[in-house]
Parts: sequence; structure tokens; C-alpha cells
Amino acid sequence: MTRIIAVTGKGGTGKTTVAALIIRAILDKKAGSVLAVDADPNSTLGETLGIKVKDTIAGICEDTRAKLDKLPAGMSKDRYIEYRIHESLAEEKGISLLTMGRPEGPGCYCYVNSLLRDMLKGLSDGYDFTVIDNEAGMEHISRKTASRIDILFVVSDFSVMGVRSALRIHKLVYSLGIDVGRSFLVVNKAKGALSPQIELEVKDSGLNLAGILAFEQGIENLSLQNKPLFDLPASADIMKSINRITEEKICRVK
Ligand SMILES: Nc1ncnc2c1ncn2[C@@H]1O[C@H](COP(=O)(O)OP(=O)(O)OP(=O)(O)O)[C@@H](O)[C@H]1O
Ligand SMILES: [Mg+2]
Repeated sequence: MTRIIAVTGKGGTGKTTVAALIIRAILDKKAGSVLAVDADPNSTLGETLGIKVKDTIAGICEDTRAKLDKLPAGMSKDRYIEYRIHESLAEEKGISLLTMGRPEGPGCYCYVNSLLRDMLKGLSDGYDFTVIDNEAGMEHISRKTASRIDILFVVSDFSVMGVRSALRIHKLVYSLGIDVGRSFLVVNKAKGALSPQIELEVKDSGLNLAGILAFEQGIENLSLQNKPLFDLPASADIMKSINRITEEKICRVK
């Protein structure tokens, strides 16, 4: 059975970066096959991984709607969409990437989201790991992209406010009854050690701290040059932290 890893948190905290680096760490370790899921309508996971997105679920839905009268004979709309989504899986570097895309028009968001959820059920079992990069904030969580999450990482920036909002997101996930195995806090873009106030906030949260990721100049440079995170040297401090988190929280636990 696949291990489902979801990354969530406030906007701009580093969800996509953490998801991409975890994927890279799983591949570097040769721990197994990966289905990467970009569940953020503002899709950036493909670019961050350096994988060209052929098509998005939202794009396929719109395309299908525009040519309902030209579908292959004997194929229902749902079957056709499913077929197209399978075809659209971008497979590169040992990763299969599924991208939700931005639904347009009223009612489309819910339809595309429920398609993603249904597709995930069927697709993810073909992979050892499913890594989901989520949309920022809380509201989308209620749409439950995944009905089960084995390991949830809530990413926070390096601030008291950041940690507090990570905790609110975490509470919301639980209150919605999503089946979450284990959840962890990841503090990202840290400039130095945690301040006593942040440390206290983390301790009181009841959320286990998976790790503190340093602000990495190399990531900023790659982002400015629009280069994938796979170009980050393995010796970068953040890669060491991510490798440890991946080993301890994802790979080692059976
Ligand atoms: N540890 C880090 N060191 C330096 N820069 C970082 C680090 N983590 C993330 N960044 C940069 O911060 C910016 C936001 O990161 P990212 O896109 O991963 O956040 P996000 O939470 O996915 O954002 P969004 O809410 O828009 O989806 C990016 O430019 C990224 O390159
Ligand atoms: Mg993102």
C-alpha cells in the first residue's frame, strides 16, 4: 500500500519546496516509486521538480466539456476524462506527476477536486509513496483531497505567528475527521536557532517538531534562475535536514 505524505501550511511558508525536497530525498535513497500530486490550483510543483506538465485535470475537464459531441464512440464523459488523466501523467526522473490545475467557471472547482480525489484512490496504490503539495491556508482542507494521510507535515515560517497558524491548520485537519496517521511541524527558512518564544510556542502546540530547515541561499538562487530544486547540491544543509526527516519520519516507520 502506498504511503501518503501531505504537505500543508500557510501561503509562502515553503510547502512546495518541502514537498519537492522530500520527493528528491526518497529518490536519492532509492526508497521506492513516487506519485507527486500538485493539489494547488496555482501549480508550481512541476517547475520546482523540473518536470514539464503536459496537461492538468482542470484543463482536461474544460477540453472535454468543449467537445462533448466528439468523444470516442462508446466512451462516456467520465471514462474519457479518466483516460485523458492517465495519459497526462508526466513521468520523468522516476516521478509521476499529477497536476490539478486551475478550474475556471462556477462549480468547476468542486468537480475537479472530487475528480482528483477519486483518481488518487485508484492511482496512488501503484506507487510506494504519494506526496501531495497542497494549496495554502485552511479552507481547501475541508475539500479533503485525500481521505487518508499517513504523514502530514505542517510547514511554518520562522515566526511565532507562523507557528500559531500552523497549529490552527493542524487542528482544522483533525476537526474535519481526516484520517491522519502522524503529523509533524516543520519550521522553514530559519535564520539561526529558534527564539525562546518560538520554542515555547512549539512545545505548547502538542505537534511534534520534525525539523528546522535553514534559510538556504542556494534555493533562493535557483528560484531566481527558475531552475529545479534537483540542482541543489546534495551537500546543502537543507538537504541533510530533509534526508534525516525523510529517513526518520517517512522511510523507517513501517
Ligand atoms: N529554506 C528555504 N531557503 C530559502 N528560500 C526558500 C526556502 N524555502 C522556500 N524558499 C523560497 O520561498 C518561496 C516560497 O516557497 P514555496 O513556493 O515552496 O512556498 P509555498 O508554501 O509552496 O507557497 P504557496 O503558498 O504560494 O504555494 C520560494 O521562492 C522558495 O524558493
Ligand atoms: Mg506552493
